[in-house]
Amino acid sequence: MYDLVIRHGTLIDGTAAIRRTADVAVQDDRIVEVGTGLARGREEIDASGRIVAPGFIDAHTHDDLALLVEPSLRPKISQGVTTCVCGNCGVSLGPLPPGDLPEPLNLLSGPGLPRFGKAADYLQALREQPAAVNSVPLLGHSALRATVMDRTDRTASAREIEAMRQLAEDALRAGYHGISTGLFYASASQATTEEVIGVCAPLSTVGGVYCTHMRDESAGVMASIEETARIGRALGVRAIISHHKVAGLPHHGRTVQTLERIQELQTQQDLALDAYPYTASSTVLTAGRVATAERTFVTTSGPHPEVAGRDVHELAREWGLSVEALCERLQPAGAVYFSMAEADVERVLAYPSTMIGSDGIPLQARPHPRLWGTFPRVLGHYCRDRGLFSLETAVHKMTGLTAQRFGLADRGVIASGKAADLVIFDADEVADRATFEDPNQDSAGVDWVVVNGQVAWRQGEPGALAGRLLERP
Ligand code: ZN
Ligand code: CU
Repeated sequence: MYDLVIRHGTLIDGTAAIRRTADVAVQDDRIVEVGTGLARGREEIDASGRIVAPGFIDAHTHDDLALLVEPSLRPKISQGVTTCVCGNCGVSLGPLPPGDLPEPLNLLSGPGLPRFGKAADYLQALREQPAAVNSVPLLGHSALRATVMDRTDRTASAREIEAMRQLAEDALRAGYHGISTGLFYASASQATTEEVIGVCAPLSTVGGVYCTHMRDESAGVMASIEETARIGRALGVRAIISHHKVAGLPHHGRTVQTLERIQELQTQQDLALDAYPYTASSTVLTAGRVATAERTFVTTSGPHPEVAGRDVHELAREWGLSVEALCERLQPAGAVYFSMAEADVERVLAYPSTMIGSDGIPLQARPHPRLWGTFPRVLGHYCRDRGLFSLETAVHKMTGLTAQRFGLADRGVIASGKAADLVIFDADEVADRATFEDPNQDSAGVDWVVVNGQVAWRQGEPGALAGRLLERP
């Protein structure tokens, strides 16, 4: 007798192979058999008319704090996500100093919220308090800078680089899966390429990936791709371009060039990328970004939580302030920016090696809907309705491909012996319901989610908190 048997479903196994009819048996936290005529299970799920796929891996999240303070992670589990890579864009919860934090670290932690002086202590907290999903933490370069430097808006000295390198080595040995940078942000934009290579040197010896929110995703995007590739080559490790996009009206269409160059580089080195399925971005509120967007609204504001959802230009007029003064008044604050072209988003999503990552920012009043809707939107809108790729390819981009890129050897694929992370969804019904106006919405068509063999989502009801901190191979 198995613990759980999923019967009569159509299996899409995460490898991009064509779907087939097969039942899946789970014992404890493992898939133990895939086939037909399987023995009974203590629990049985009838997946008739539905797809059975590996649980989705969110390649790019900012769920570091949510994993601890809202461990049910409904925005993720309700989409079928079973694993979250966190600590992206240079921002992790450890190591962080006490006191005020520079942007964008202040968007993830603040007064009264957990933060960790030692990076390893964050991992320990994850081990002690299981969440609904598995976690794959990255170490943030901006967090290292905030810990080691008296101010982050300058270049680091050789001694500071060495101190950060040592902290990075300790963190990787403790179990972080790689290092992320956010060279776009003021807290890291003064870091030279040499600094990044110096701080990230332990990736070459201890292991792990290099992930980056590049220095420039607009006019200077080509130079940023070259810098990313150079860092990856110097370290001899996999480099991952986060949330690949080209933002700003004058640059629409340029993903033709960026993808051409990425493809060329991929023949020479290990280079990967992820993307989210929306034409609007979301990050800290800055007047500079407002200036290049067609429209901007506030997602969160420390001193003025009541303005979440408001249009920035409207609010500036109403309060009789310049956009600059308004942005200052609302800090720390986040915003959604409409700044990309639909054709670019589709081109990047369809690119064969693009993984799906939400870049969702949790714990905000009016978050970007990507937090709740990314995976069903790719499956429903972009795969089924727009026909960008087959369902097998869509699933691969959120499972097997991502597991391979992050070195998660026993996830992302349905096969005997693999971890029992599974999602059962209806291919005709699956759809994102989260909108910019009303983002906090479960998706449609995701019926069951299993994490490490435990049912974590049962037709709209949250279940077990069976997620784990995944140990680095
Ligand atoms: Zn980012
Ligand atoms: Cu991000």
